[in-house]
Parts: sequence; C-alpha cells; structure tokens
Amino acid sequence: MRAVVIRDGGILVEARPDPEPGSGEALVRVRAAGLNGADLLQRAGSYPVPPGVPADMPGMEFAGEVLRNGPRAERFNVGDRVMGLIAGAGQAELVVVHERLLMPVPAKLDWPAAGGLPEVFTTAHDALFTQCGLQPGERLLVHGAAGGVGTAAVQLGRATGARVSATVRNAKHREMVAALGAAVLAPGDFVDAGPFDVILELVGAPNMRDNLRALRTGGRISVIGTGAGATVEEFPLGLLMARRGRIHGSTLRGRSLEEKALTARALERSVLPLFATGALRVPVHKTFSLERAAEAYDAFAAGGKLGKIVLTA
Ligand SMILES: NC(=O)c1ccc[n+]([C@@H]2O[C@H](COP(=O)([O-])OP(=O)(O)OC[C@H]3O[C@@H](n4cnc5c(N)ncnc54)[C@H](OP(=O)(O)O)[C@@H]3O)[C@@H](O)[C@H]2O)c1
Repeated sequence: MRAVVIRDGGILVEARPDPEPGSGEALVRVRAAGLNGADLLQRAGSYPVPPGVPADMPGMEFAGEVLRNGPRAERFNVGDRVMGLIAGAGQAELVVVHERLLMPVPAKLDWPAAGGLPEVFTTAHDALFTQCGLQPGERLLVHGAAGGVGTAAVQLGRATGARVSATVRNAKHREMVAALGAAVLAPGDFVDAGPFDVILELVGAPNMRDNLRALRTGGRISVIGTGAGATVEEFPLGLLMARRGRIHGSTLRGRSLEEKALTARALERSVLPLFATGALRVPVHKTFSLERAAEAYDAFAAGGKLGKIVLTA
C-alpha cells in the first residue's frame, strides 16, 4: 500500500507492507483521511505516539470501505462504509482497526466529510457533553471556532439548544462560523459578552485568565488545544473558587480501546443521526490526493482555513 510517512521532519508517500487484520479487527480501504494538529506535532517529532504505533506514520482518522474482516470481527460487512479514530498510520490506502472503533458513515456524507469527521466531532462531543455536561439553554463559548474542532463544537452546541458564542481571529471566516450557529466575537472581545456556562478552549494559555473572568458561577472550562501556549503565568485561584468553577483537560489518542469505543457509541447514538437530518455538517476547507500529502501538511500549518483539510485516496 501507499502511505504517508515522516522522514527528517518532512512528509513523503511511500510503499509500505499491507496490514493484516487480527482478531476483532477489520481491514479498511481508506477513501479519505483528515489532518489534525497532532499530525503536525508528530511531523516535528514532538508528539510521542502511543505504544505499538509506528512513530513515522501519522494519521488519526479515516473513512473507507471494509475490505475484509479478521477473525471474530462481525459488526460490519465487506463493502460497508465506515469511519473511525485510529491511534496512528491512518493516512494510508489501507488500515486495520478494531471493529469497536468503527462507525457507519451517514448516507448523506461524501468521503472527504466522513474522513474529516471522527477526530473533531469526537473531541468536541466528549469535551462539551461528557466532560462539561453542557445543557440546553446554557451559554457556550468556543475559542478558535473556525478550525475543525471549533466548527464541530459550534454546531453541536447549537443542535443541543445551547446559546453559542465563538471567537474567530480570521475576519474572513466570521460570517461562515455565524452561519453554523454562533454569535461571533473577535478574540479580545469575549469577557464583556459573558458570562458563559461552558468555555471550550482550543487556543490555549493566553485566554485562561480572561476565561475565569467570563465564567458564570458553576461554569466549566474544557482545555483541549494549546497551540498558542500551554503555560499560564498567573492564574487567580480565588476567582476560580468564587466562580465555583471546574477546569477539565483531555486528550483522545492515548485512551484505551474500551474508552475510545465508548466515544464511538456516544457519537453513533447522539451525533450521527444529526448528519442525516442536515443539522450537522463537516466543513471541508480543501482536499489533497494522498500523493500530495506534503502540500496538505503545509496548508494546515499555514492556518487561515475554515474546518478540515482532508487527504483522499
Ligand atoms: N486534546 C485533544 O484530544 C485534541 C483533539 C483534537 C485537537 N486538539 C487540539 O485542539 C486545537 C484545535 O484543533 P483543530 O483541529 O480545531 O485545529 P485547527 O483546525 O488548526 O483550528 C485551530 C483554530 O484556532 C485558531 N487559532 C490558532 N492560534 C490562535 C491564536 N493564537 N489566537 C486565536 N486563534 C487562534 C486558528 O486560526 P487560524 O486559522 O487563523 O490560525 C484555527 O481557526 C489544536 O491545538 C489541536 O491540536 C486536541
């Protein structure tokens, strides 16, 4: 098979041996595979991959067709359209993945949308609902809302009946994020727009002091991305106590099979039906063929996109 590999900090596409499905696993012919921030960190050598995952093969999500089931795999039939999270090596023509991590692709989704769905919708759903218990009628603030996770979170918040605000630094994307269901703010303007019950932090440390100021009593902050900085120099704990606030942090990639399977079942139950009704969609900024993966990585690193960059195979 052809696969994206990392060599000396660069991206190449090379022939690699076809993977073989083990017990409970399916072999999937990949049609689309999204890029994520962690792929860029892995390219730079600064994202240690989980045990058993090749360090030189990036890719954490994919969509494609089941080619063959391994022993005791029976959830899906050959030819079924599936998508899912994978701990690595997802940007390749073939992947093997445990069937419990697979989800059916909703009928309305094309391959690029499906390939860009699992990581960002799982992350957003887990942060907003499983960690922060977002409720209908509550006020949600999403920072960095024009990206993959942000566009997912805005739509999920809106679909559940929360009142959604969002910071977007790139002025040309503010209208599109508003169309997804958010009152859009410039990054420096959110404190006066509060208080918020739930704040999804996708940008990082520079927002954290003001997040506390913008938090409603009993509010929750979920820290998911730290691209703009991971260290907060001064953090007023007195204000955290006064707000009776909670701060959650999370990563997906290192979770166990059981924990990831729970997130897949939660998406099947609560999120995938909303793609069928048209309440949710996956904004795809640009697609690149697998052979042009290096260009796709550079486009992701350049920023300024709305939603996802996806490789097609
Ligand atoms: N913890 C987890 O499990 C998990 C899972 C998925 C993603 N993540 C992380 O969460 C973050 C968001 O992921 P994503 O897939 O949505 O990434 P993305 O598509 O690259 O989106 C990031 C968004 O944040 C904006 N942004 C970046 N730096 C900013 C700054 N200093 N001030 C204001 N806005 C800024 C970007 O705007 P520009 O386009 O203008 O740069 C972009 O709209 C990333 O750091 C990613 O690594 C964590």
